[in-house]
Amino acid sequence: MKRENVLIPEAELARQRAFMGKIRTFWGETQPAACVETFGCQQNVADGQRLMGMLETCGFRFTNEPKEADLVLVNTCAVREHAEQRVFGNLGILTHSKKENPQQVIVLCGCMAQEERVAKRIRESYRHVDLVFGPQALWKFPELLWQVYENRKRVFSIQDEHGSIAEGIPVVRERGVKAWVSVMYGCNNFCSYCIVPYVRGRERSRDPEAVLAEVRQLVQEGYKDITLLGQNVNSYGNDLDIQYDFSDLLREIDQIDGDYWIRFMSSHPKDATQKLFDTMAQSRHVARQLHLPFQSGNDRILREMNRRYTRAQYLELVQYARSVMPGLVLTSDVIIGFPGETEAEAMDTVSLVKEIGFDALFTFLYSPRPGTKAAEMPDPVPRAEKQKWFDALLEVQNAQSAALHGAYIGQTVRVLVDGESGDADFPLTSRTEGNRLVRLKGGPELAGHFIDVKITDSNTWALYGEPV
Ligand code: SAM
Ligand code: SF4
Ligand code: F3S
Repeated sequence: MKRENVLIPEAELARQRAFMGKIRTFWGETQPAACVETFGCQQNVADGQRLMGMLETCGFRFTNEPKEADLVLVNTCAVREHAEQRVFGNLGILTHSKKENPQQVIVLCGCMAQEERVAKRIRESYRHVDLVFGPQALWKFPELLWQVYENRKRVFSIQDEHGSIAEGIPVVRERGVKAWVSVMYGCNNFCSYCIVPYVRGRERSRDPEAVLAEVRQLVQEGYKDITLLGQNVNSYGNDLDIQYDFSDLLREIDQIDGDYWIRFMSSHPKDATQKLFDTMAQSRHVARQLHLPFQSGNDRILREMNRRYTRAQYLELVQYARSVMPGLVLTSDVIIGFPGETEAEAMDTVSLVKEIGFDALFTFLYSPRPGTKAAEMPDPVPRAEKQKWFDALLEVQNAQSAALHGAYIGQTVRVLVDGESGDADFPLTSRTEGNRLVRLKGGPELAGHFIDVKITDSNTWALYGEPV
């Protein structure tokens, strides 16, 4: 698709701003309240912050209490069945708040909303939901919401679109030091188990200047831990009219002066390059941390998953990354119980985990997603059996994480204090450059600062320390 058809024109964005103005006028003197709940990955969290930005511009304040809200927005995730069940449960509960306040507007958006089967179920069985739209329609939220207020009719906007890029949408960020910046949207990879490409459209990269301007602004505002987001940041730039890739973007961001860390996720191993690792190694601000999902340690399963790399290629990548960045903190995603996976194949995954020694893993039991290729594959192994393999994997990883954490005891490390924990003994939370959680002694005045701390204790999930 041509680049000019991907970027939403300024005139269209101005139209959306006008709808935000109309909604503000509609409410007049009374300030309406919105309750926003986001599920899923950081990209969805970033989308949620833009939806909140639009709501704020429409005049809304925010509440965590659905009963108090004039508008409830549920920003959903479709990646596993469990995530969807939770949303249906939440929507069910909202019938009560709607009964008490029939004027309440209920909005369902995000990845689940883009699935035809979900939209059908909402249309038929969740009649209290007023507005449904998928991730590709996010920029049109003001117009869609205005249609609900103006016509008091249900609105569904879930056309299967390539997807677009809208710059300049207002954002409500979490206060503090962390910020998310989407550098691209969509996914072209069609891993056979995954719903994301079906619900988030094709890959499209934001212009480098737009990303650079946003990061510059965040650094100026005092954000210190900035994560660049994309389903596969390594294909950033493939759709731009210029020769420019993710490493080029990282290199330019790194030139922005200030005291901050840059992270990114996710990186698909099939497109990870030595250039990327060299750029990280030579940078001032890019954290020596890599999230590189491998999904399976068995070549047949990797082929069936359509991942387009082998175990050997993955090992080679990790070896190179570690050679140029000693001490690199490495994390990954892995799926156990892909259709047709045997115990021996699952144990290949466990052996890869042992061989590599990840700092942390995000482990998932395969969940069939209707509409994907894998959901059509025979899946004879009972869940209880898969659970045993899963538990074996967890045991290996937990022991590994505990050992790696234990090795920090006695060391002095630099951390960014990012919040308060509510724990009397270790009232602060902080992160190392590698994104390891460190619970800290110390007062609230340290929040938002980089400080040196001595690690005094650890467990599987966290380090404990005190400022030096
Ligand atoms: N784009 C990222 C990548 O390729 O690394 C991953 C995005 S996905 C939202 C996050 C993780 O969810 C995947 O890495 C995978 O491990 C897991 N996942 C995706 N589909 C799944 C499924 N059907 N069942 C279980 N886990 C799944
Ligand atoms: Fe899903 Fe694969 Fe795309 Fe990641 S790269 S979002 S796992 S299809
Ligand atoms: Fe993210 Fe879930 Fe969508 S993981 S991309 S919110 S399906």
